Amino acid sequence: MPRTKVGVLISGRGSNMSALIAAAADPSFPAEIALVISNRPDAAGLQIAADAGIEAMGIDHRPFGDDRLAHERVIDAKFREAGIEVICLAGYMRLMTDWFIQAWIGKQLNIHPSLLPLFKGLHPHRQALLAGVTLSGCTVHQVTLETDSGPIVGQAAVPVLPGDTEDSLAARILKAEHRLYPACLAAFVSGKGSPALDTASLFNPAG
Ligand code: GRF
Repeated sequence: MPRTKVGVLISGRGSNMSALIAAAADPSFPAEIALVISNRPDAAGLQIAADAGIEAMGIDHRPFGDDRLAHERVIDAKFREAGIEVICLAGYMRLMTDWFIQAWIGKQLNIHPSLLPLFKGLHPHRQALLAGVTLSGCTVHQVTLETDSGPIVGQAAVPVLPGDTEDSLAARILKAEHRLYPACLAAFVSGKGSPALDTASLFNPAG
């Protein structure tokens, strides 16, 4: 059974990318991590991927200035040349153009450190602490035009403990992320993840 070829986009340390690589080292895992791209050429995760024998490249966004689309066209071309079928965002810190999102719609996953739809966007741990929730966690979802709002593939919950700081909560959630992302990727490529959103089926017109 051929494994689904996955590309990973990172910007930094790449611990979620590492978790995906570790899971895919098992030949029975239904996906292989075939290419890692970072918009920051000095991202620590690039070296980790290369050390694991995975093609890894920095495609610096800075020479492209404000031309976000031109940068993404290069990334898109690299993924397509490599035969990538699914993209996993793993700490990729650039907002994407609608063009890129639409080009990979239904084929792109992201992990966000909150229980979506709560605490979208920046500083989700701070948002959780400020809201006073006693439970938070992480979500793997499909990437759609609205940030952190695509169909959910899976979630993991962790407690928010008295005295938690952003750092302590982030560390607890990150451990859950490392288990959740591989499980969700496996489910997604096996057709068990969230199906394409069919809003019509969510409402009963007779009801
Ligand atoms: C993770 O918390 C992820 O949920 C968020 O960015 C962070 C990336 O961390 N999107 P890492 O680079 O995977 O270690």
